[in-house]
Amino acid sequence: MEDDMPSSLFLQYSRLIYEQCGINLHEGKKALLQARLNKRLRLTGIESYRDYFKFITCGANPGEFVNFLDSISTNLTYFFREVQHFDFLNKVALPELIEKKQKQRDRRIRIWSAGCSTGEEPYSLAMCVMSHLQDETRWDFRILATDISTRVLETASRGIYSAEKVEKVPAPLRQAYLEKAGGQGNSDFRISARIKRLITFHRLNLKEPYPFKGPFDFIFCRNVMIYFDKRTQEELVNKMAAFLGKGGYFCVGHSESLTGLDHKLSHVQPAIYRYL
Ligand SMILES: C[S@@+](CC[C@H](N)C(=O)[O-])C[C@H]1O[C@@H](n2cnc3c(N)ncnc32)[C@H](O)[C@@H]1O
Repeated sequence: MEDDMPSSLFLQYSRLIYEQCGINLHEGKKALLQARLNKRLRLTGIESYRDYFKFITCGANPGEFVNFLDSISTNLTYFFREVQHFDFLNKVALPELIEKKQKQRDRRIRIWSAGCSTGEEPYSLAMCVMSHLQDETRWDFRILATDISTRVLETASRGIYSAEKVEKVPAPLRQAYLEKAGGQGNSDFRISARIKRLITFHRLNLKEPYPFKGPFDFIFCRNVMIYFDKRTQEELVNKMAAFLGKGGYFCVGHSESLTGLDHKLSHVQPAIYRYL
């Protein structure tokens, strides 16, 4: 296995990554790219970065191409991440939405978690919304959860998390919507069927066409576009926002902002935008 990757090859990799998923890797990320590729080289038995590049770009190995994209994405997430969003949902957006929908006799609530990683975000959203619905059987509530990485989606669909991970779920919601996974010496928790059935997990590269219609009441695309350059961010924000219903909210991570991008959303508060 090579120790160092020539700059010209790094450029080829970073161009490929940018074209395929919008992630902008500058020269400072070379060591990170190498570390992630080393694992793929070990697992495939391919001996050089150059041969691996040929292997994934020749068109004959689409499975390994997905593994490659999986290995370069950063998947950190946790339950109820960025509590400001959940406070806003609990205090403002959900009471308002539920009242409006009840008046209009509209029972449909749709959320899109775009870049859902291992599932903590859509499950947190599902628990949060469910805790506001008085008679859940009367609502048509669904969450679409998408990610480019098949690896994280497998974990997400399983819906089983360690005791340490579920500590971040507020106690009343933990009691209502999580169950002991069971089995001797197993301290894991399972997301209850009541919550799981609300969510559809799907692989989707945000740069590719979206094979659904919407409209969504909320789109959460948090800590995903942080890796994209401004041009890609602007393109994706507009593409996703076109799937919001009137009055729908668009939430990004608190370390991100849409400032400087050309879009049609109104700023509500940090990291929350709305289509009015
Ligand atoms: C840091 S995680 C954020 C997870 C969650 N939204 C949160 O805020 O906790 C970023 C996720 O975005 C996904 N991602 C990166 N580029 C993507 C793309 N082009 N299309 C779809 N998902 C992408 C990654 O696979 C990763 O799971």
